[in-house]
Amino acid sequence: MSEPPQPHILIADDQQDVLEALRLLLKGEGFRIETVTSPAGIIAALEENDFDALLMDLNYTRDTTSGREGLDLLPQVTDVDGTLPVIVMTAWGSVDGAVEAMRNGARDYVEKPWDNARLIATVRTQVELGQALRRSHRLEVENRMLRREGLPEMIAESRAMEPVLNLMERVGPSDANVLVTGEHGTGKEVVARWLHACSNRADRPLVTVNVGGLSEGTFESELFGHVKGAFTDAKTDRVGYFELADKGTLFLDEIANVPTPQQASLLRVIESGEMQRVGSSRTRRVDVRIISATNVEVQKKIDEGLFREDLLYRLNTVEIGLPPLRDRREDIPLLATHFLRRHAEHYGQAVEGFDAAAMRLLLDHPWPGNVRELEHAVERACLMTVGGKVGVDDLGLRERRSGSPRLEQMSLEEAEKYLIQKALSRADNNVSQAADALGLSRSALYRRLQRFGLHVGEE
Ligand SMILES: Nc1ncnc2c1ncn2[C@@H]1O[C@H](COP(=O)(O)OP(=O)(O)OP(=O)(O)O)[C@@H](O)[C@H]1O
Ligand SMILES: [Mg+2]
Repeated sequence: MSEPPQPHILIADDQQDVLEALRLLLKGEGFRIETVTSPAGIIAALEENDFDALLMDLNYTRDTTSGREGLDLLPQVTDVDGTLPVIVMTAWGSVDGAVEAMRNGARDYVEKPWDNARLIATVRTQVELGQALRRSHRLEVENRMLRREGLPEMIAESRAMEPVLNLMERVGPSDANVLVTGEHGTGKEVVARWLHACSNRADRPLVTVNVGGLSEGTFESELFGHVKGAFTDAKTDRVGYFELADKGTLFLDEIANVPTPQQASLLRVIESGEMQRVGSSRTRRVDVRIISATNVEVQKKIDEGLFREDLLYRLNTVEIGLPPLRDRREDIPLLATHFLRRHAEHYGQAVEGFDAAAMRLLLDHPWPGNVRELEHAVERACLMTVGGKVGVDDLGLRERRSGSPRLEQMSLEEAEKYLIQKALSRADNNVSQAADALGLSRSALYRRLQRFGLHVGEE
């Protein structure tokens, strides 16, 4: 049987006799020792090799009494290796230094002159704790990677997204119905796909329906299906989305825009798990997990009598709120780089990144269209950039930074599209209301939405 490897200890002190004494003592206890004599030497050694513990003096020649040099070094050490146990050596009786060192990340301290037995015990304990910590750290990372394999790309490293990710990891594998809220383009659909992909329904379909955009007349037959002859146009049987999603997940997008009568039939199916195709009396059971999304405040709709509270309670067993991009700017560089790499590859462009001014502009831009707007800007920049790095001009963001585009600079077509978008957003995407405001019939508005490629609830 092979011996377990000897724990590797780094000792730092600017006094050679101290280093020698410690080397002899710890070598005799089965440790492998390396020594350095300066703070810079510590960092260099840590970057070079893996250690199981660092035993370091706090005082060095620059200033031999305050311990500042050693204390200042601690954050750097944790930067290089956050799991490395650090034991500091302090002058006899200087408890304050020891306390401050512990506060700065040291795990334990020994006083000089040291007691051999105590020092050995301290080093051994810290080595064992450190190894255990590293093992669990590694496992955690491996687990995370395993769980994330095959999941849709979800870039989120900002503090604002931390609770979101935690919630997603917790509820993803469950059967809980989830309501995802957030402004346009914040990634609600990404979250829905991610939740489905890490559930045990992952090998069954995720069926996506923009329920807010279905017309009242076809809502039920789209969702529940119909039988031949159920109405004039029903020439054949048709399977609805609920049946398609059986044993899988149904993603109901723009849920807040469903008119109240249709909300009632949704509620019935969700509560009972039973439904009938339109025109049929046969009851069918469906086993469907519902993820829904909205970019409007549902509570406001409830207050206005436009959304059923009982339906909300069926949908939001868990609610995941996505913060707008302007509240998680730390994610911008990562997202931008990710999109640039993807689009550069797609277009076969040799673009290497963003220059400093372009990155600053990306960080400063308000991003009313959130991640989607960022992705579009990067895609455009990718096409505009001629070799090398994306510059400020390639981004084409400047002139659009403040306020709305100017009507007088638009073509008639652009102006029409713009006014329709405005009316929809004022009406919280309620097509009837927006049509009223524009002086159009509902169907005339629908035709224009189609012509301009606008989806209710989308940019
Ligand atoms: N965290 C993320 N990591 C990587 N890509 C993202 C992320 N969030 C969003 N995206 C990308 O941004 C775009 C918009 O995301 P998505 O369609 O999920 O937004 P949404 O909230 O559903 O928007 P809308 O309300 O307009 O429907 C997509 O191309 C998506 O892939
Ligand atoms: Mg969406």
